Amino acid sequence: MDKALAYTEAHFDRFVDELKDFLRIPSVSTDSKRAGDVRKAAEWLAVHMRALGVEKVDIMETAGHPIVYGEHLVDPAASTILVYGHYDVQPPEPLELWTSDPFDPQVRDGNLYARGSCDDKGQLFMHVKAAEAWFQTEGRPPLNVKYIFEGEEEIGSKHLPGFLREHKELLAADVAVVSDTALFGSGVPSITYGLRGLAYVEVTLQGPAIDLHSGVYGGAVHNPINALARMISDLHDENHRVTIEGFYDNVIPLTPEERETFASLPFDGESWVREVGASKSKTETGYSPLEGTTARPTLDCNGIWGGFTGEGAKTVLPAKASAKISCRLVPGQTPEEITAKLEAHFRKHTPDTMKLTFTDLHGGHGALTPTDSPAMQAASDAMEAVYHQKPYMVRSGGSIPIVADFKRILGQDTVLMGFGLDSDAIHSPNEKFGLDRFRAGIDSVIRFMGLYARTR
Ligand code: BES
Ligand code: MN
Ligand code: MN
Repeated sequence: MDKALAYTEAHFDRFVDELKDFLRIPSVSTDSKRAGDVRKAAEWLAVHMRALGVEKVDIMETAGHPIVYGEHLVDPAASTILVYGHYDVQPPEPLELWTSDPFDPQVRDGNLYARGSCDDKGQLFMHVKAAEAWFQTEGRPPLNVKYIFEGEEEIGSKHLPGFLREHKELLAADVAVVSDTALFGSGVPSITYGLRGLAYVEVTLQGPAIDLHSGVYGGAVHNPINALARMISDLHDENHRVTIEGFYDNVIPLTPEERETFASLPFDGESWVREVGASKSKTETGYSPLEGTTARPTLDCNGIWGGFTGEGAKTVLPAKASAKISCRLVPGQTPEEITAKLEAHFRKHTPDTMKLTFTDLHGGHGALTPTDSPAMQAASDAMEAVYHQKPYMVRSGGSIPIVADFKRILGQDTVLMGFGLDSDAIHSPNEKFGLDRFRAGIDSVIRFMGLYARTR
């Protein structure tokens, strides 16, 4: 292990250069014009993994973007880890808000700026480089490793659950390991044991068949924007609780112990929301910002459109109004259940002057993993050795739906060992990843591999 750590120290600058090459490939999965670049990123990764010694690396096709699968089996008696990451990235727009080109990686103040630097190319690459360090110093990793890197995470991992079902044997492992979450704070190590799920829908209200003159018809024809705005504002009550019937039915409540732990974490919710320019927090009554963002379900309107939005004024009574609405779910809730309840709510409350179109866009289950497994212990010990501080066990508000499928389909718990920061601006302009964290991540993964291998 010490040799692998020393190797990383000696070769770190090259690791950064290689990561830059990877980041230059604009693998934006949502953009069909970029499908060739998404594939190029998969190929780059496969070539890189083969070159460093992973014995079997394949690009495996799906009906969408390909999966990069790799494995290096050292001993049937040894433990096996399944490392997951995603090589696709979010669209970079709006481009004018970037200080440097999103696909021309630049280091400023110790941070590597590029789309995907943190989410998730930089983080998956930590696992690749940790393996290289083992290969180059000990000839092989200390345990069996399997890698599954997908290109569709940012568009809902549509083809991955089917892939898991088809390749159960191939993907068999003792535990899944994912670096696609954040540290609790700068220099504050944490391991994530919970993720939220997601239910994402689009609704449209149609009133008249065509846009109308608001002077001629306003007063007799119901306006879809007015109607939709009322329906959206009625989705929360005065305690900022979601009013959808049965929304909280299956929520597994926080235990008093969990609430105590949350309260004891070094986290100032008010200054945290001020960092993003909000004047103060807005939570469900009775819950802290940390609980609200990680352990309580929420509903947010993500976009709303309709009518006239151009320059100047146009006196129009629009025909239609639409909104995109998503709920973050907590374990116990399922996307199917919440989508059905959302639809029932919208059908029930649509005024009889309107026609509703309701579309299920996508969803995913939340996840909770036991914190006392040998793999969690090894991850905790690994990060403690790097940070000289025991990592906090935390829940994250984001979603990585495939984590629930690792459990449901493959029977694997997942260790979420992430090195991002909330301030890394993932999905936003000027996404970055601290090189100190890239380094600490590689060291943590090297140590995790060594420590977990010893548990068997
Ligand atoms: N890596 C993120 C999820 C994440 C972000 C977890 C921050 C923990 C902390 C992932 O790439 C992502 O963006 N997920 C999407 C869901 C997906 C189904 C589009 C999300 O959370 O919105
Ligand atoms: Mn991600
Ligand atoms: Mn993401």
